[in-house]
Amino acid sequence: MWTFAKRKAPMTRGDFKKLPRHVAIIMDGNGRWAKKHKLSVALGHRQGTETLREIIRHTDDLGIEALSIYAFSTENWNRSKEEVAALMQLILDFFASEIDELDAKNVRILILGDKSDLPAKQREVLLQAEERTGGNTGLKLNIALNYGGRAELANAARELAMLVQSGRITPAMIDEKTLADHLYTRGQPDVDLMIRTSGEMRLSNFLLYQCAYAEFLFPTVLWPDFSVQDYDEALIAYGGRERRFGGRLK
Ligand code: FPP
Repeated sequence: MWTFAKRKAPMTRGDFKKLPRHVAIIMDGNGRWAKKHKLSVALGHRQGTETLREIIRHTDDLGIEALSIYAFSTENWNRSKEEVAALMQLILDFFASEIDELDAKNVRILILGDKSDLPAKQREVLLQAEERTGGNTGLKLNIALNYGGRAELANAARELAMLVQSGRITPAMIDEKTLADHLYTRGQPDVDLMIRTSGEMRLSNFLLYQCAYAEFLFPTVLWPDFSVQDYDEALIAYGGRERRFGGRLK
């Protein structure tokens, strides 16, 4: 676990010697932040959404290709009715306030996860956002909602089994690439950098396949306090990592 040094102005693309193509973030610590400030957990998540806005903007400014964020896992349904309702409301508020700017910035929104279990209103808003931005060619913004990595893999296996059953492919044709082509993130690069805030060091069923060779960073800062400067520090730390992908350094 480590904390970041303090830095002032946000960095620009040219300041980095190497940037990841795909960043994934587990936005952890909203509940602890709320407790620390004697606020409701709903307000913790609301503050977390403010952080998210800034981080999306900075990711786009830096020209990073893809950003995946874990907004609601399949396990989050087990939280209290009030907390789930607050998160569902935040989804509506987030898209109502952000969609115009995101679309204007050429951001393509993709929802990772099973939308069919979400309330009708949320489902509608998410489908609209995906449709409206589907042709955009800028930042790929993947928002994981009702997402589970194992469910994603099971889903891909089911789709491939159906293709075999219908005779369109043979089992021998299934390789890593065909499997990846049946994940929500099809066509996108693997995750290069995974950040989980709040000091917890777990993957929690997020992008299991896509993180096979990801670099991991676990800053101790709680998500609502995670600043653009903290993000820059994480990206600098990523730039200093030597990635070997199972091989040896030359
Ligand atoms: C984990 O913190 C965070 C979540 C379960 C939800 C994160 C969601 C948002 C920041 C906003 C929603 C996103 C969109 C797109 C509207 P925690 O509550 O588990 O923190 P704790 O471990 O300190 O309790």
